[in-house]
Amino acid sequence: MTGFRDIADADIEQVVALWQTCNLTRPWNDPYRDIAFARQAKTSTILVREQDGRIAATVMAGHDGHRGTLYYVAVDPLVQRQGLGRAAVRAAEAWLAERGVWKVNLLVRSENATVSGFYQALGYEVNPVICLGRKIEDHPALPSTVSGQAQ
Ligand SMILES: CC(C)(COP(=O)(O)OP(=O)(O)OC[C@H]1O[C@@H](n2cnc3c(N)ncnc32)[C@H](O)[C@@H]1OP(=O)(O)O)[C@@H](O)C(=O)NCCC(=O)NCCS
Repeated sequence: MTGFRDIADADIEQVVALWQTCNLTRPWNDPYRDIAFARQAKTSTILVREQDGRIAATVMAGHDGHRGTLYYVAVDPLVQRQGLGRAAVRAAEAWLAERGVWKVNLLVRSENATVSGFYQALGYEVNPVICLGRKIEDHPALPSTVSGQAQ
């Protein structure tokens, strides 16, 4: 199954709605900002797939010069368990492999741990790591162009 393409301006509202339906958005993350930031870099993208004229699946893929990462893997609940999730991950892997990436990491929120079965069905393994993070929103070097206003 193929048919994934880069997100276009006209897709954004549908994509955000899909992420909300799939419970992937959080109050502290602005999805419009995430989309704008991923689209501005050559090292990241958001791939979408339409079905019956609607956005049915998405995946954000990117790399930092070391590893590839997937985010926002989402399939419309109306068409889940039909192979679209697998196809999204495979499309993202192909996008990364074309750019020389040979290892892909991704995070699963602990409250969504059951979804790890999906990734394991696709050959992903649970790695014994602790994920740490820190927001640097107030860093003076952060460009104002990457603001939460990007809708
Ligand atoms: C997770 C998600 C993307 C899977 O999409 P999907 O289109 O239903 O998955 P597929 O039909 O491609 O399934 C691929 C394989 O994973 C398995 N699978 C799918 N969802 C699963 C789940 N929740 N738990 C365990 N296995 C699952 C399928 O049985 C299938 O295995 P098989 O090929 O051996 O039969 C979809 O359920 C979704 O959008 N969930 C909400 C958002 C989410 O949690 N995203 C992941 C964030 S980390």
